[in-house]
Amino acid sequence: MKRVAFGCDHIGFILKEDILAHLHARGVEVKDKGAWSSERTDYPHYASSVAQSILDNEVDGGILICGTGVGISITANKFPGIRAVVCSEPYSAQLSRQHNNTNVLAFGSRVVGLELAKMIVDAWLDAEFEGGRHQVRVDAIAAIEQAQN
Ligand code: RB5
Repeated sequence: MKRVAFGCDHIGFILKEDILAHLHARGVEVKDKGAWSSERTDYPHYASSVAQSILDNEVDGGILICGTGVGISITANKFPGIRAVVCSEPYSAQLSRQHNNTNVLAFGSRVVGLELAKMIVDAWLDAEFEGGRHQVRVDAIAAIEQAQN
């Protein structure tokens, strides 16, 4: 994944600069969708900006950080075509790409420290969707989304 949109709330902002530096060091092109300070704000706004950026094909995927990763991933998953995972360890991040073709990774700055967060990011960025039997299941998710609209 070479182009990534980044979003966080005021709690996630604690990890922002270090995660952006890590992404830049990996050669990832980052679209910064805020927040831009630790002033209190609301995570749905940043999750929406990142999700829309993916759906507009401005980027290949997104990374979101809030306190737990929960609220910001729930919001992203409201957008049809977004498959967001919240992770607190690298194995699920890797499998979420290989099996579920996730296009958004979320984690919580109150849950993981910087070094673990970087391992989660690396596992997610390095993994590729395996397709095959997993494509059938991802297609079934899309069919469920369409049936709801
Ligand atoms: C903000 O206090 C907090 O609720 C938010 O960062 C996140 O953890 C929500 O899921």
